[in-house]
Amino acid sequence: MFWHFRDISAINWFLAVIDVLDLFFQDKFMFAILSDIHSNLEALNAVLKDIKKRGIKTVYCLGDVIGYGPNPRECLDLIIEKTQWCVLGNHDYATLYEPTNFNVAAEQASFWTREILEEESNKPLCDRRWNFLGELQMRQTLKGKLWSTEATMDFIHASPRRPINEYIFPDDVYTNPLKVKVLFERVKHICFVGHTHMPGVFLDEPDFYSPHELSNVYPIVSNEKAIINIGSVGQPRDKDNRASYVYVEGNEVHFIRLQYDFEKTMKKIKAIDQLDNFHADRLRDGR
Ligand SMILES: [Fe+2]
Repeated sequence: MFWHFRDISAINWFLAVIDVLDLFFQDKFMFAILSDIHSNLEALNAVLKDIKKRGIKTVYCLGDVIGYGPNPRECLDLIIEKTQWCVLGNHDYATLYEPTNFNVAAEQASFWTREILEEESNKPLCDRRWNFLGELQMRQTLKGKLWSTEATMDFIHASPRRPINEYIFPDDVYTNPLKVKVLFERVKHICFVGHTHMPGVFLDEPDFYSPHELSNVYPIVSNEKAIINIGSVGQPRDKDNRASYVYVEGNEVHFIRLQYDFEKTMKKIKAIDQLDNFHADRLRDGR
Protein backbone atom coordinates (compact mmCIF):
# COMPACT_ATOMS: atom_id res chain seq x y z
CA MET A 1 0.00 0.00 0.00
CA PHE A 2 2.82 2.32 1.00
CA TRP A 3 4.64 1.65 -2.25
CA HIS A 4 1.46 2.12 -4.14
CA PHE A 5 0.93 5.49 -2.44
CA ARG A 6 4.54 6.46 -3.05
CA ASP A 7 4.22 5.53 -6.71
CA ILE A 8 1.19 7.76 -7.10
CA SER A 9 2.99 10.60 -5.30
CA ALA A 10 5.93 10.21 -7.62
CA ILE A 11 3.64 10.35 -10.62
CA ASN A 12 1.85 13.41 -9.23
CA TRP A 13 5.15 15.11 -8.50
CA PHE A 14 6.31 14.34 -12.03
CA LEU A 15 3.09 15.71 -13.48
CA ALA A 16 3.42 18.82 -11.30
CA VAL A 17 6.94 19.40 -12.61
CA ILE A 18 5.67 18.97 -16.16
CA ASP A 19 2.96 21.55 -15.37
CA VAL A 20 5.50 24.04 -14.05
CA LEU A 21 7.76 23.52 -17.04
CA ASP A 22 4.79 23.90 -19.28
CA LEU A 23 3.87 27.20 -17.62
CA PHE A 24 7.46 28.30 -17.67
CA PHE A 25 7.81 27.62 -21.36
CA GLN A 26 4.37 28.82 -22.14
CA ASP A 27 4.31 31.82 -24.32
CA LYS A 28 3.55 34.51 -21.79
CA PHE A 29 6.39 36.29 -23.49
CA MET A 30 6.32 34.42 -26.77
CA PHE A 31 3.78 34.66 -29.53
CA ALA A 32 3.70 34.43 -33.31
CA ILE A 33 1.92 36.74 -35.75
CA LEU A 34 0.84 35.68 -39.24
CA SER A 35 -0.72 37.66 -42.03
CA ASP A 36 -1.85 37.42 -45.65
CA ILE A 37 -2.14 33.67 -45.97
CA HIS A 38 -4.23 34.06 -49.11
CA SER A 39 -5.54 30.49 -49.23
CA ASN A 40 -2.01 29.08 -49.59
CA LEU A 41 -2.15 25.85 -47.60
CA GLU A 42 1.41 24.74 -48.29
CA ALA A 43 2.86 28.01 -46.98
CA LEU A 44 0.54 28.03 -43.96
CA ASN A 45 1.46 24.47 -43.03
CA ALA A 46 5.18 25.29 -43.27
CA VAL A 47 4.70 28.28 -40.95
CA LEU A 48 2.54 26.41 -38.42
CA LYS A 49 5.08 23.58 -38.32
CA ASP A 50 7.87 26.05 -37.56
CA ILE A 51 5.80 27.74 -34.85
CA LYS A 52 5.11 24.36 -33.24
CA LYS A 53 8.78 23.42 -33.41
CA ARG A 54 9.65 26.57 -31.47
CA GLY A 55 7.11 25.68 -28.77
CA ILE A 56 5.03 28.81 -29.44
CA LYS A 57 1.41 28.32 -28.40
CA THR A 58 -0.09 31.75 -28.93
CA VAL A 59 -0.69 32.82 -32.51
CA TYR A 60 -2.40 35.98 -33.79
CA CYS A 61 -3.43 36.69 -37.38
CA LEU A 62 -3.60 40.02 -39.20
CA GLY A 63 -6.10 38.97 -41.85
CA ASP A 64 -6.34 38.17 -45.56
CA VAL A 65 -6.69 34.52 -44.71
CA ILE A 66 -8.36 34.03 -48.10
CA GLY A 67 -8.28 35.44 -51.63
CA TYR A 68 -5.94 34.65 -54.59
CA GLY A 69 -5.11 31.04 -53.61
CA PRO A 70 -6.66 27.59 -54.09
CA ASN A 71 -7.41 26.42 -50.50
CA PRO A 72 -9.72 28.91 -48.74
CA ARG A 73 -11.63 26.26 -46.75
CA GLU A 74 -8.54 24.54 -45.38
CA CYS A 75 -6.77 27.79 -44.53
CA LEU A 76 -9.81 29.19 -42.73
CA ASP A 77 -10.16 25.97 -40.71
CA LEU A 78 -6.51 26.07 -39.66
CA ILE A 79 -6.62 29.76 -38.72
CA ILE A 80 -9.82 29.21 -36.71
CA GLU A 81 -8.21 26.27 -34.93
CA LYS A 82 -4.68 27.55 -34.38
CA THR A 83 -5.00 31.26 -33.67
CA GLN A 84 -6.27 33.20 -30.65
CA TRP A 85 -7.83 35.80 -32.89
CA CYS A 86 -7.60 37.33 -36.33
CA VAL A 87 -8.37 40.83 -37.61
CA LEU A 88 -10.22 41.69 -40.81
CA GLY A 89 -8.26 42.00 -44.07
CA ASN A 90 -9.49 43.53 -47.32
CA HIS A 91 -9.72 40.12 -49.02
CA ASP A 92 -11.72 38.67 -46.11
CA TYR A 93 -14.00 41.70 -46.43
CA ALA A 94 -14.22 41.20 -50.21
CA THR A 95 -15.43 37.62 -49.89
CA LEU A 96 -17.81 38.42 -47.07
CA TYR A 97 -19.24 41.66 -48.48
CA GLU A 98 -17.80 42.91 -51.78
CA PRO A 99 -14.43 43.56 -53.39
CA THR A 100 -13.48 47.25 -53.32
CA ASN A 101 -10.74 48.68 -55.57
CA PHE A 102 -9.72 45.21 -56.74
CA ASN A 103 -8.26 44.50 -60.15
CA VAL A 104 -10.16 42.04 -62.35
CA ALA A 105 -8.08 38.99 -61.39
CA ALA A 106 -8.29 39.70 -57.66
CA GLU A 107 -12.03 40.30 -57.92
CA GLN A 108 -12.52 37.06 -59.82
CA ALA A 109 -10.54 35.16 -57.16
CA SER A 110 -12.70 36.72 -54.48
CA PHE A 111 -15.95 35.64 -56.17
CA TRP A 112 -14.55 32.12 -56.69
CA THR A 113 -13.58 31.97 -52.99
CA ARG A 114 -17.12 32.94 -52.00
CA GLU A 115 -18.52 30.22 -54.28
CA ILE A 116 -16.24 27.57 -52.74
CA LEU A 117 -17.23 28.58 -49.21
CA GLU A 118 -20.93 28.61 -50.12
CA GLU A 119 -20.72 25.19 -51.78
CA GLU A 120 -19.61 23.47 -48.57
CA SER A 121 -22.07 20.63 -47.92
CA ASN A 122 -21.21 20.28 -44.22
CA LYS A 123 -23.56 22.93 -42.75
CA PRO A 124 -21.87 23.38 -39.33
CA LEU A 125 -18.46 23.71 -41.01
CA CYS A 126 -19.89 26.12 -43.55
CA ASP A 127 -21.51 28.24 -40.80
CA ARG A 128 -18.37 28.19 -38.68
CA ARG A 129 -16.30 29.68 -41.51
CA TRP A 130 -18.84 32.39 -42.37
CA ASN A 131 -19.35 33.24 -38.69
CA PHE A 132 -15.60 33.54 -38.23
CA LEU A 133 -15.35 35.93 -41.18
CA GLY A 134 -18.39 37.88 -39.99
CA GLU A 135 -16.97 38.38 -36.50
CA LEU A 136 -13.49 39.61 -37.45
CA GLN A 137 -12.57 42.88 -35.72
CA MET A 138 -10.68 45.73 -37.39
CA ARG A 139 -8.16 46.03 -34.57
CA GLN A 140 -6.89 44.23 -31.51
CA THR A 141 -4.75 45.81 -28.78
CA LEU A 142 -2.53 44.21 -26.17
CA LYS A 143 -0.79 45.97 -23.31
CA GLY A 144 1.80 44.40 -21.07
CA LYS A 145 5.41 43.79 -20.22
CA LEU A 146 7.72 42.18 -22.73
CA TRP A 147 10.36 41.10 -20.24
CA SER A 148 11.02 44.49 -18.61
CA THR A 149 9.72 46.62 -21.49
CA GLU A 150 6.23 48.11 -21.14
CA ALA A 151 4.52 47.80 -24.49
CA THR A 152 1.23 48.76 -26.09
CA MET A 153 0.71 46.78 -29.26
CA ASP A 154 -1.96 47.33 -31.89
CA PHE A 155 -2.70 44.63 -34.45
CA ILE A 156 -4.25 45.84 -37.71
CA HIS A 157 -4.35 44.48 -41.25
CA ALA A 158 -3.36 47.57 -43.23
CA SER A 159 -2.73 50.91 -41.48
CA PRO A 160 -3.65 52.70 -38.26
CA ARG A 161 -5.64 55.24 -40.31
CA ARG A 162 -7.51 52.92 -42.67
CA PRO A 163 -7.38 49.50 -41.01
CA ILE A 164 -8.23 47.33 -43.99
CA ASN A 165 -7.28 49.25 -47.12
CA GLU A 166 -4.32 51.65 -46.82
CA TYR A 167 -0.91 50.55 -48.06
CA ILE A 168 2.23 51.71 -46.25
CA PHE A 169 5.08 51.05 -48.66
CA PRO A 170 8.79 51.24 -47.77
CA ASP A 171 9.20 53.94 -50.46
CA ASP A 172 6.65 56.16 -48.68
CA VAL A 173 9.35 57.29 -46.26
CA TYR A 174 11.04 59.04 -49.23
CA THR A 175 8.15 59.78 -51.60
CA ASN A 176 5.52 60.68 -49.02
CA PRO A 177 7.15 61.27 -45.62
CA LEU A 178 4.21 63.42 -44.49
CA LYS A 179 1.87 60.45 -44.91
CA VAL A 180 4.11 58.31 -42.70
CA LYS A 181 4.33 61.10 -40.09
CA VAL A 182 0.54 61.42 -40.04
CA LEU A 183 0.17 57.64 -39.67
CA PHE A 184 2.55 57.67 -36.71
CA GLU A 185 0.34 60.23 -34.96
CA ARG A 186 -2.19 57.38 -34.68
CA VAL A 187 0.37 54.91 -33.28
CA LYS A 188 0.58 54.72 -29.49
CA HIS A 189 3.71 52.60 -29.39
CA ILE A 190 3.87 49.47 -31.58
CA CYS A 191 1.58 48.69 -34.50
CA PHE A 192 1.81 45.34 -36.28
CA VAL A 193 0.50 45.35 -39.86
CA GLY A 194 0.48 43.24 -43.03
CA HIS A 195 -1.29 44.12 -46.32
CA THR A 196 1.69 45.13 -48.51
CA HIS A 197 3.29 41.69 -48.13
CA MET A 198 6.65 43.44 -47.56
CA PRO A 199 8.18 42.85 -44.12
CA GLY A 200 10.19 45.46 -42.23
CA VAL A 201 10.06 48.19 -39.60
CA PHE A 202 8.95 51.81 -40.04
CA LEU A 203 10.19 54.35 -37.50
CA ASP A 204 8.77 57.86 -37.17
CA GLU A 205 11.92 59.65 -38.37
CA PRO A 206 10.45 58.54 -40.89
CA ASP A 207 12.54 55.62 -42.00
CA PHE A 208 12.19 52.01 -43.06
CA TYR A 209 14.44 49.10 -42.19
CA SER A 210 14.19 45.74 -43.97
CA PRO A 211 14.56 42.59 -41.85
CA HIS A 212 17.95 42.08 -43.51
CA GLU A 213 19.14 45.51 -42.32
CA LEU A 214 18.03 44.57 -38.80
CA SER A 215 19.67 41.12 -38.89
CA ASN A 216 16.09 39.82 -38.64
CA VAL A 217 15.51 41.14 -35.11
CA TYR A 218 13.86 44.36 -33.96
CA PRO A 219 14.02 45.08 -30.21
CA ILE A 220 10.90 46.84 -28.92
CA VAL A 221 11.91 49.68 -26.60
CA SER A 222 9.60 51.84 -24.54
CA ASN A 223 10.54 55.22 -26.06
CA GLU A 224 10.45 54.28 -29.76
CA LYS A 225 7.29 54.03 -31.87
CA ALA A 226 7.31 51.46 -34.66
CA ILE A 227 5.01 50.18 -37.38
CA ILE A 228 6.11 46.61 -37.96
CA ASN A 229 5.09 44.88 -41.17
CA ILE A 230 5.30 41.15 -40.66
CA GLY A 231 5.20 40.18 -44.34
CA SER A 232 2.98 37.57 -45.95
CA VAL A 233 2.69 33.84 -45.31
CA GLY A 234 1.14 32.94 -48.64
CA GLN A 235 2.14 35.58 -51.17
CA PRO A 236 5.42 37.39 -50.36
CA ARG A 237 6.13 40.40 -52.57
CA ASP A 238 9.63 41.45 -51.55
CA LYS A 239 11.33 39.36 -54.27
CA ASP A 240 11.89 36.55 -51.76
CA ASN A 241 9.47 33.70 -52.38
CA ARG A 242 9.75 32.19 -48.89
CA ALA A 243 6.81 32.40 -46.48
CA SER A 244 7.17 35.23 -43.94
CA TYR A 245 5.99 35.59 -40.35
CA VAL A 246 7.28 36.96 -37.04
CA TYR A 247 7.43 35.76 -33.48
CA VAL A 248 7.93 37.91 -30.41
CA GLU A 249 10.07 36.64 -27.55
CA GLY A 250 10.61 39.02 -24.67
CA ASN A 251 10.95 42.42 -26.32
CA GLU A 252 12.44 41.02 -29.55
CA VAL A 253 10.51 40.72 -32.80
CA HIS A 254 12.08 37.96 -34.91
CA PHE A 255 11.50 37.95 -38.68
CA ILE A 256 11.33 34.43 -40.08
CA ARG A 257 11.43 33.18 -43.68
CA LEU A 258 10.62 29.61 -44.66
CA GLN A 259 10.84 27.66 -47.87
CA TYR A 260 7.74 25.73 -48.85
CA ASP A 261 6.49 23.78 -51.84
CA PHE A 262 5.25 26.75 -53.89
CA GLU A 263 5.22 24.64 -57.06
CA LYS A 264 2.47 22.52 -55.56
CA THR A 265 0.42 25.66 -54.83
CA MET A 266 1.12 26.98 -58.33
CA LYS A 267 -0.18 23.76 -59.91
CA LYS A 268 -3.39 23.97 -57.87
CA ILE A 269 -3.97 27.59 -58.92
CA LYS A 270 -3.35 26.80 -62.58
CA ALA A 271 -5.87 23.94 -62.42
CA ILE A 272 -8.66 26.32 -61.38
CA ASP A 273 -10.05 28.28 -64.33
CA GLN A 274 -11.36 31.18 -62.25
CA LEU A 275 -7.93 31.85 -60.72
CA ASP A 276 -5.58 33.87 -62.93
CA ASN A 277 -2.21 32.22 -63.65
CA PHE A 278 -0.54 35.41 -62.47
CA HIS A 279 -1.50 34.45 -58.90
CA ALA A 280 0.56 31.29 -59.42
CA ASP A 281 3.58 32.85 -61.14
CA ARG A 282 4.02 35.51 -58.47
CA LEU A 283 4.50 32.79 -55.84
CA ARG A 284 7.58 31.57 -57.67
CA ASP A 285 8.94 35.11 -58.13
CA GLY A 286 8.00 36.54 -54.72
CA ARG A 287 6.39 39.62 -56.26
FE1 LIG B 1 -3.06 40.64 -48.67
